[in-house]
Amino acid sequence: MQVVITGANRGIGLALAQHYTATGAQVQAGARQPHAGQMALDVTDPAALQAASAQIDGPVDLLICNAGVYLDQGETLAAGYAEPLWAQSFATNVTGVFHTIQAFMPQLRAGRGKIAIISSIMGSSAAASGGSYIYRASKAAVANLGRNLAVDLARDGIAVGIYHPGWVQTDMGGAGASITAHRAATGLAQRFAALSLASSGCFESYDGSPLTY
Ligand SMILES: NC(=O)c1ccc[n+]([C@@H]2O[C@H](COP(=O)([O-])OP(=O)(O)OC[C@H]3O[C@@H](n4cnc5c(N)ncnc54)[C@H](OP(=O)(O)O)[C@@H]3O)[C@@H](O)[C@H]2O)c1
Repeated sequence: MQVVITGANRGIGLALAQHYTATGAQVQAGARQPHAGQMALDVTDPAALQAASAQIDGPVDLLICNAGVYLDQGETLAAGYAEPLWAQSFATNVTGVFHTIQAFMPQLRAGRGKIAIISSIMGSSAAASGGSYIYRASKAAVANLGRNLAVDLARDGIAVGIYHPGWVQTDMGGAGASITAHRAATGLAQRFAALSLASSGCFESYDGSPLTY
């Protein structure tokens, strides 16, 4: 099994890389500042994505689009949400996911692989609780992207799932979050294993509970 993970140098992405390595999978761990054994991969750089894709031989069974930023935490409606925060957030959380999937399509098609998009419950319009407009909008957009890709990629035998990893103890989630990155990764991996063409387009939490777009 070959697994490609973006943002695999820390947080949930690192925990996912450790999980799949422990199961014996061949893990291609993408990082902006790669260490030994990692693959240079900035999701906002389409040329870098193409170069990373060119390094990977054979089919990809699972592409995990995990890399993300949450730049507008604590911003105020009165004076915050400056344009660069919108641009960088969407370049990473939405366009970056699209270009990642595009770059690895040949290997995904070859393996009839699966695509897992890490969105967030904060992208659920049904669960809207206000604030963090940029992050929420970007995670809603990427969930919509995944849902539409699920329609188009069914003909290639590629299933697409959209996931909330839980509130996780990472740099993004903070020390007060409710679950460890290990717990999130274990739960997510179970959800990815369960993903099929029948469930493609699903929006689920790491514990299997369904979410509403
Ligand atoms: N933690 C939570 O409670 C929570 C809840 C819901 C959803 N999520 C989502 O889960 C995913 C992982 O979050 P996390 O908590 O592990 O966050 P994190 O600890 O802040 O880690 C984010 C990861 O994304 C990478 N990244 C950011 N921009 C990138 C880029 N342009 N190209 C490649 N990699 C990039 C970071 O790399 P660098 O080290 O180079 O910055 C890092 O590896 C994100 O999509 C996040 O939105 C997290």
